[in-house]
This record gives sequence, C-alpha cells and structure tokens, in this order.
Amino acid sequence: MKLSGDIQKRQSELTALTGDEGLWTELECDGQRFPVIAKEFWTFRQRQASSLHEISYRACYKPQLPRFFIERLTIPDDMVYDPFGGRGTTAIEAALLDRRVISNDINPLSQMLAQPRLTPPSREAVSERLAIIPRITDEQCDLGMFFHPDTENEIRAMRRWFIERRESGAFDYIDAWSRMTATNRLTGHSPGFFSVYTLPPNQAVTRKSQIALNKKRGQSPEYRDTHALIIRKSRRLLKYLSDQEQKNLRTASETARFLNCDARHTSKIEPNSVSLTVTSPPFLNVVQYKNDNWLRCWFCGLDAESIGKSITMPSNINSWSEFMADVLKELYRITKPNGHVAFEVGEIKKGSIKLEEIILPLGLNIGFDPLGVIINIQNFTKTANIWGVDNNSKGTNTNRIVLFKKRSFIHSQQL
Ligand SMILES: C[S@@+](CC[C@H](N)C(=O)[O-])C[C@H]1O[C@@H](n2cnc3c(N)ncnc32)[C@H](O)[C@@H]1O
Repeated sequence: MKLSGDIQKRQSELTALTGDEGLWTELECDGQRFPVIAKEFWTFRQRQASSLHEISYRACYKPQLPRFFIERLTIPDDMVYDPFGGRGTTAIEAALLDRRVISNDINPLSQMLAQPRLTPPSREAVSERLAIIPRITDEQCDLGMFFHPDTENEIRAMRRWFIERRESGAFDYIDAWSRMTATNRLTGHSPGFFSVYTLPPNQAVTRKSQIALNKKRGQSPEYRDTHALIIRKSRRLLKYLSDQEQKNLRTASETARFLNCDARHTSKIEPNSVSLTVTSPPFLNVVQYKNDNWLRCWFCGLDAESIGKSITMPSNINSWSEFMADVLKELYRITKPNGHVAFEVGEIKKGSIKLEEIILPLGLNIGFDPLGVIINIQNFTKTANIWGVDNNSKGTNTNRIVLFKKRSFIHSQQL
C-alpha cells in the first residue's frame, strides 16, 4: 500500500517532535516530498548519558540518540525495540526511562553485554563473587602477546568458572555482570585493561598483529590484577545510577526479552506490539564484527567463526537494500498502529552514498509513512569515530535518522 499525503502534514508532525528551528530541506521520492531537518539535537545540549552505557562495542551509537526518540514518542510501559541491539544502547536507555524492552542481535555477544546491565549487582556482591573465583588453571597459555602469563591464568580460570557455572545451572546475575565487565576489560589501550597496549576493546587484533605491535612499541605485557580491574570498572558503571533508575531497570528486567534472531525473522515478537523501534543496522561490510570480537567470543565460550557467518555483511547497495526491505517488512508487522521506527543510517563513502535515500522508499513501499529525515550534526567525538566511516568534513559527524510511522488503517485512508 502506498501512502499519498503531503509534505506540510509530515513537516508539522516532524516539527512537533524536533521544534521548527534548524535547517529544513527536502527529499523527493516516488513523486512525493519529505522534510529533512538538520541541527545539533543531542550530544552537547543534553545532559550526560548514564555511566551504565560505558561498554564499548563496534559502531554503537550514543545513548542520547535513542533517548531523543524514546522521550518524545513513548510513555512509561510502552514497548521499545532494537532489532540490531549491539551493546544494548536502546534497551538500556529505554529501561532507564521505565519502558519495556526487547533487544535482538544475531550475535549472542550482544545479550551477554546488554542483559546484565538491567540487573546490576551491588559492588560488594561483585567483590564477594570474585573472591571465590579461582585465579589459576592448568590450561595451556597461548595469548602471551596480549597478557602477562599470570594475567592470562586469571582470565582462563575466570572463563572456565563462567562456563562451568552455566553448565551446572548455577550461573546467576552476579556471574553475568562479572563476565560482561571482564569481557569489556580484556584488551585496550590503558592499564585499565587486562592486556598490554593494543587497539580499543571492541577491536581485537590478531595474535600476529599484536606481536608486530609489541615489537614496534618495544613493549611486553605486565601483570594486571583482573579482579581489581573488574571491581573498578563495576564501580564506574554504577557510579551515577539514581535510585529511580535502579528501580526502573529492575522493573524492565522482569519483562525484558533478549533475542538472538536474524532481524528479518523475529516470530517471537507479537504483531502490533512495539510502540517504538530505534536502531542502526550493519552498514555494508564496513565493520568486521567477527574479527573485532574474536577474543571476546573466546572468553564468553562463543564460536566467533559461526557467528561471523550469520552476521549480515552486504557487499553492495543492492544486497543491502534487499536485506533492509525484509527487515522493514518485519518491523511493519510488529509495530503498533501509530507506532514509530527511527532508523539510523550512516553516511558512507565520504557522503556519496546517503542511505536514507535508499531506506526511505523501502519503508514507503512496505506501508510505513516516512515522516522525514532527522540529521543530528554534532561536533566530532571519539565515539562517533568508531563507525569506521570517514567524516564528510573535519570536526563534525552526523547521525541521519529516517523516522517512519505506521499509520492506523483509518488514518492512512484519510491522508
Ligand atoms: C551498527 S551495530 C548496532 C549497534 C547498536 N546500535 C549499539 O549501540 O550498540 C549493528 C548490529 O547488527 C548485528 N547484526 C548483523 N546482522 C544481523 C542480522 N541479520 N540480524 C540481527 N542482527 C544483525 C551485528 O551483530 C551488530 O551488533
């Protein structure tokens, strides 16, 4: 079903959301015109995001992005969804705001990083748990290019503990939190990580590259007290959580669902049940999720090879469009009438490919009403840089979001 409708109506709906200040332009598609508004909507204008988000993940977005849409398009208890959950930015922000959540990702690592943050244990509970986890194993060490032998022993002992706890059914929320925190501390570029200096934690290099890096920098791994670093990171993650936020997280955790499906096939989600989806999909093959996460997967007892095969990495725009058409079809099925989908797309190949121009007609063809495109222009930051995408101009970076609405049938007839 194609919707007619006019640009003024869409612009007034978009204005209600964004305010009318900003640079307005238009996008033409299928003979219709759609408003585009550009402004710095979030990042520096909004208050600091919760420290609970500070788990790194390739191509994650800032929590202010989902917050912008959750606050404006939903009310407490509404269902918020992300089909490409990653580190869980949408789910955690929605839970902090007292919404119900579903988070999906084809990579099971996503759930391991996201779900524990809905049930954060006390720092004392983490310390007590770590105190009973052994620090030595009889396993063969072979990660000496990253870790001091004593550190590697601790990591291997911890890894084994979590696997055995899972197998015996004893694995609980304190283990889940400790594993999530340890996973995030495995490798990085400061003494706050278990490894010698290497790439940021979301981008593990190969053994061979690390050997070369050590040689180039004249470095060798020093001992790191893994338990002390987990406790320190836990303290930082939990530092600014208010009592109300903790209560909201607890409530959300009772109904939260973490799925491990292909975003095109999420039959476990009921039709017409989601009020808002906020998401950013994989972009062509710019991020190598398998290679970047091999060490994290190993630690969590996951098979990076098979995960790598299931992750969608379209090599060209045509296959990306086909994939996205199927994802949007599924999103249409699960979205409530009058619900929204905020679809964040990157600007790739130095801005020569604007993915909003591809996504917008796909959504339109499926039956969504595209209210328009919201472009957040922000000063360049480190997090924005991990897209692995070139900035179109020095010192700035943009998020481009196509906002779709699923009209109720009666309303769409009137447009
Ligand atoms: C751009 S990242 C999302 C990052 C997320 N917004 C965050 O803040 O962490 C895209 C995610 O899509 C996942 N993915 C790739 N192919 C998928 C598929 N077919 N179905 C579901 N998830 C998929 C990847 O594992 C990756 O976590």
